Amino acid sequence: MDAAQILAALGTPEGRTDPYPLYAALHELGEVIKLSEHDVLVVGYDDINLVLRDPGFLVTDEVTLDEGFPAWRDNPVFLQSVDWILNLNAPRHARIRSLLAKTFTARRVVGMRPAIEAMADDLLDAMADRGANGSAVEFMQDFAYLLPVTVICELIGIPDSDRAGFRPLARDLAGIFEMHDLEALPRINAAAVELLSYFTDLAALRRSDPRGDLLSDLLAVSDAADGRLTDAELLHNMTLLLVAGFETTTNLLGNGLQIVLDRPEYVEGVGAGSVPPAAFVEEVLRFDSPVQLTSRHGYDTTISDVAVSAQSEVVLLLGAGNRDPRRFANALSFDPARGDGGPLSFGGGAHFCIGAALARLEGAVAFPRLFGRFPKIAPAGEPTRRDTLLLRGFDTLPVSVA
Ligand code: HEM
Repeated sequence: MDAAQILAALGTPEGRTDPYPLYAALHELGEVIKLSEHDVLVVGYDDINLVLRDPGFLVTDEVTLDEGFPAWRDNPVFLQSVDWILNLNAPRHARIRSLLAKTFTARRVVGMRPAIEAMADDLLDAMADRGANGSAVEFMQDFAYLLPVTVICELIGIPDSDRAGFRPLARDLAGIFEMHDLEALPRINAAAVELLSYFTDLAALRRSDPRGDLLSDLLAVSDAADGRLTDAELLHNMTLLLVAGFETTTNLLGNGLQIVLDRPEYVEGVGAGSVPPAAFVEEVLRFDSPVQLTSRHGYDTTISDVAVSAQSEVVLLLGAGNRDPRRFANALSFDPARGDGGPLSFGGGAHFCIGAALARLEGAVAFPRLFGRFPKIAPAGEPTRRDTLLLRGFDTLPVSVA
């Protein structure tokens, strides 16, 4: 198959269900593949890493949106997303990211462990009740969606009573990452408007009555004499945290469970701790990455020997880099004991995932508890994958737990 045929296959439902044989075929074509005059696909681990860390490659921002989609200004979601750190280049990116990082600290994440453990245990209790008589339990609905969204709500400081409405809104907003046509926009815009209005009201509450949560602390940073975060920048990046941290982590949990359902020998090891939780999570991230790709705009340079320019659209296939046979021994095997980890699943360089420590913690808490609690966990029907390429995960994953 040539590159065009492989890409066409990746665009089909079958290709999205199992892209890995197609990634292997891409690796045979080379690390960097020129698809057309301006389109370049990077599949090699080292080259993806280099592009991510090279500040000359830019993310899509206001300037590039103006060129490609001038109507963006009519859409609330784009009015927010042009302030998302994910979509900002230097120097604005560094300014806003460093203010976020001042409050979204490693210490705050570590401090969330007891709360995450308690949330996971509550959800597992409910799963145990539902599945006690041997009936199927829906892991995605009953655990994998609920844990991350509750954790982000806890992190930001969204009260318990408001949390239920967040899941569908966050999911609708996440549609922006998979937007193939303009038809999806009204729904995504509606979610963006509702979430922003909610955060605006919550910020007013927290400003007068701070609670020590991320939102309260960010407001304090931005209101301080040297604060350089406008209200819009702050509120817009709250919607980013919700949308970037929710479905990605959901998919980490679902993808990890499916890997173990296919390899039941890991249930005991992960449940009892003889397979270290952190190593297990890293290998899940590598083997079946919740985020499969990202992209950058080029500049006049080369990636390996392939010339790119400011007109180039460079797609970085993280999921393929994670299976690069030049980088990983037995790249196609799942092996938490491999010593050569370092998946690209959280990106790299200036835009490295700000929530990586939190996502890793959620996985490291959830998997040992899940398998320790349900040593007989087994498939209870055909799982269904989400028909998406950028975010990779399941819609449903039915299991029996008794
Ligand atoms: C397994 C779960 C997750 C995965 C696989 C993941 C993946 C990624 C990737 C690949 C990027 C970089 C994108 C690029 O360079 O173009 C990124 C950035 C980001 N992630 Fe995550 N993420 C996860 C969880 C989270 C969580 C839990 C949060 C927050 C609560 C979060 C917030 C962000 C933000 C704000 C950025 C933008 C950083 C920047 O541009 O400076 N992510 N994530």
